[in-house]
Amino acid sequence: MPASQEVSARKVLRAPVGTRDVLWPESRRWEALVATFARRARLAGYGLLLTPVLEDAGLFRRAVGDESEVLRKEMYELTDRGGRTLALRPEGTAPVVRAFVQHHPPVPWKVWYVTPAFRYERPQAGRYRQHHQVGAEALGSDDPDLDVEVIALAAGFYAELGLQGIDLSLGSMGCAADRPAYVRALREHLTERREMLCEEHRDRFELNPLRVLDCKRPQCLAVTTDAPKMLDFLDEPCVTHLGRVRQGLDALGIAYRIDARLVRGLDYYTRTTFEFAAVSLESAQNAVGGGGRYDTLAEAIGGPPTAGIGFGIGIERLLLACDAEGCFAASPCAPEVFVVDVTGGAAARDLSAELRAAGFAALRAYDDRSIKAQLKLADRSRAHYAVIVGPREIEDQTVTVRSLREGKQTTVRREELAEWLRREPLD
Ligand code: HAM
Repeated sequence: MPASQEVSARKVLRAPVGTRDVLWPESRRWEALVATFARRARLAGYGLLLTPVLEDAGLFRRAVGDESEVLRKEMYELTDRGGRTLALRPEGTAPVVRAFVQHHPPVPWKVWYVTPAFRYERPQAGRYRQHHQVGAEALGSDDPDLDVEVIALAAGFYAELGLQGIDLSLGSMGCAADRPAYVRALREHLTERREMLCEEHRDRFELNPLRVLDCKRPQCLAVTTDAPKMLDFLDEPCVTHLGRVRQGLDALGIAYRIDARLVRGLDYYTRTTFEFAAVSLESAQNAVGGGGRYDTLAEAIGGPPTAGIGFGIGIERLLLACDAEGCFAASPCAPEVFVVDVTGGAAARDLSAELRAAGFAALRAYDDRSIKAQLKLADRSRAHYAVIVGPREIEDQTVTVRSLREGKQTTVRREELAEWLRREPLD
């Protein structure tokens, strides 16, 4: 092997820039977070949907829009060995709508998902190249009550995690009937101020002026502060829709503020848009969830006209917000029992299998360690009880149960151990 290759073979490989491993016990929070979301989604009638992480790149081109940042700069595209252009999903909605169009399930079709999403962004705290989302989508109805239901699902989830500082912004992107007039007015406003825009948008704003509203650079912010507002251009049905959503949120006691600038970074939105921001996080990365309606998306990707609405919540950011607020800590994951076997290991093998079958979390040591070493491991595992098996216990068909918290010890008949553990309160 040439010397240069030898060196690289020995180099420690790391996860790619902007991605991270989630190790145990941190992953316990992920488990609990997803379980909490799954339960709330199920209560509201949403079923789990799994779709491939790879999709035809054309799906996102049509759904997310060629002019969005996600498409122009961030999507991971690859050509497979069969010459197909595929993309690692940058977001979760387009695949759901693709699955809907492909399988035409009965409507309303309400699904939830948990998924990695890939965006080639500049990595920093709260911004990753692979992040994860839990999300929900409801297809087949443009009833404003569905908008309220979807927003309430997200809001209730944040509350159940214990988060208090979550602000909800609500807007409307209008529809095919009222948006063109707005886009014309915005284009005019921007054209008159072209020289003041940031370099990128000076050249591109004509392709999709709405993207300038999403630009965080001070030059664009200055130009858009007094730009025409979509909310002033909404037609009657869109005004009524927004009014019904507001009424519903008020009725459910969900606080929000109207944000006339809320355009969101993806191009498929119509009517309702919303975003949840964590006040405890830095403003550049404080969006812990967002979503909206996409009543023309199914059609845009070749399906029948079908209204839809949903949201995605960034798990990493959500956990950062929980850290900042000191809520939703990892619950300790102490096993109930640690089997200490000083007869060679067979008893530990059999007893831990029996206890697990009876529903107890049971650990054991390996490699025939000394009793001292095994008890040390039992202590470190924070188990409630050490169940000790020595030659005498084998002879008597018993086990010695030692409470690792209180130090008390007792002898229990082996066949009664599971029953005994069930009766004994776990300290
Ligand atoms: P999004 O706003 O692009 O919407 O992403 C949803 C959430 O994912 C964000 O609010 C944020 O919490 C998290 N997120 C996005 N990018 C990153 C990143 N690079 N690093 C860490 N977290 C990130 C969507 O993706 C839409 N599919 C939401 C939706 C569902 N709209 C309708 N239905």
